Amino acid sequence: GAAELGPYRHYMQKEIFEQPRAIGDTLEGVVSITPELFGDNAYNIFKQVDRVLILACGTSSYAGMTAKYWIESIAKIPVSVEVASEYRYRDSVPNPNTLVVTISQSGETADTLAALKHARSLGMEHTLTICNVPTSAMVRECKLAYITRAGVEVGVASTKAFTTQLAGLFLLTLCLAQVNGHLSEEDEAGHLKAMRHLPVAIASVLALEPQIIAWSEEFARKENALFLGRGMHYPIALEGALKLKEISYIHAEAYPAGELKHGPLALVTNEMPVVTIAPNDALIEKLKSNMQEVRARGGQLYVFADVDSHISSGEGLHVIRLPEHYGVLSPILHVCALQLLAYHTALARGTDVDKPRNLAKSVTVE
Ligand code: G6P
Repeated sequence: GAAELGPYRHYMQKEIFEQPRAIGDTLEGVVSITPELFGDNAYNIFKQVDRVLILACGTSSYAGMTAKYWIESIAKIPVSVEVASEYRYRDSVPNPNTLVVTISQSGETADTLAALKHARSLGMEHTLTICNVPTSAMVRECKLAYITRAGVEVGVASTKAFTTQLAGLFLLTLCLAQVNGHLSEEDEAGHLKAMRHLPVAIASVLALEPQIIAWSEEFARKENALFLGRGMHYPIALEGALKLKEISYIHAEAYPAGELKHGPLALVTNEMPVVTIAPNDALIEKLKSNMQEVRARGGQLYVFADVDSHISSGEGLHVIRLPEHYGVLSPILHVCALQLLAYHTALARGTDVDKPRNLAKSVTVE
């Protein structure tokens, strides 16, 4: 009811603003990196696996895609990510040394549960879930689990469940790296410090709300939008586009920025807002030339940079700067800004933010 909403207009807004608390709770008690965070037998299982298969649906699948970048770069284990509804029905080549990871807010999504059963029927017994509901079928069915502590999520469009999944997946990355001898004590200490600081860093991104509201008033008048990212921010672009579609009903597509010239550039006119995720990482110079390609066609760029990105506003180029550069955990911060953009755009269009048409919070039938 209204009482639970406190100062917020919708559950989605409340849940976006709960993220510092949700991440803090999810990481509470993590004093060091140890496989036991995932269950008693985790060390033995992690020792036996040499690949990871991530299965999930919707927003949870984008958490999985982000984790692929982390796990391959930090733990050096090959990862494949597949939407559960595809995996369960296609012929694939099973390998018993696979760690099968399901990601699910509810733990009850029919396709994800069926994909898990399918993987097991193919002889893959090493199963792990990142899940927000400890009593769910998913947690019961998997040997290992990390329970996110987002708390109850009411808004159909997932927000705090996603960022807490990312936190859990980053812990998994570090544990796999450790077991494989790729995590020095110095790295461990550095990552733990960055994780502990996340609640404060997220709060500083949420404080950008007034600037994001100003952008959302322009977005609300559009019928299409493009989202660009590169590397581990490509899945974040996908999630930003999904959030906008789900609640504002604006058609949005995400592309890895390097693919722009292979198709979507044809759509760019001065009526097309192009949201670009531009942290100061190794790909920033490449991304800047992608932005030039958009500007040259009159596209309007809305750039989420960070304090180190060296991009400033200009004609057709709008910049909001995240206050900290956050390295490998930067996806967690950037997605919070995109959630606010979708939320305020939907608000300006007057849609039913918490219960978008045709969508359900949890899809427990096929
Ligand atoms: C539905 C929800 C999405 C969610 C997806 C997967 O489509 O509307 O927000 O991402 O299911 O749900 P899960 O509970 O498995 O994460």
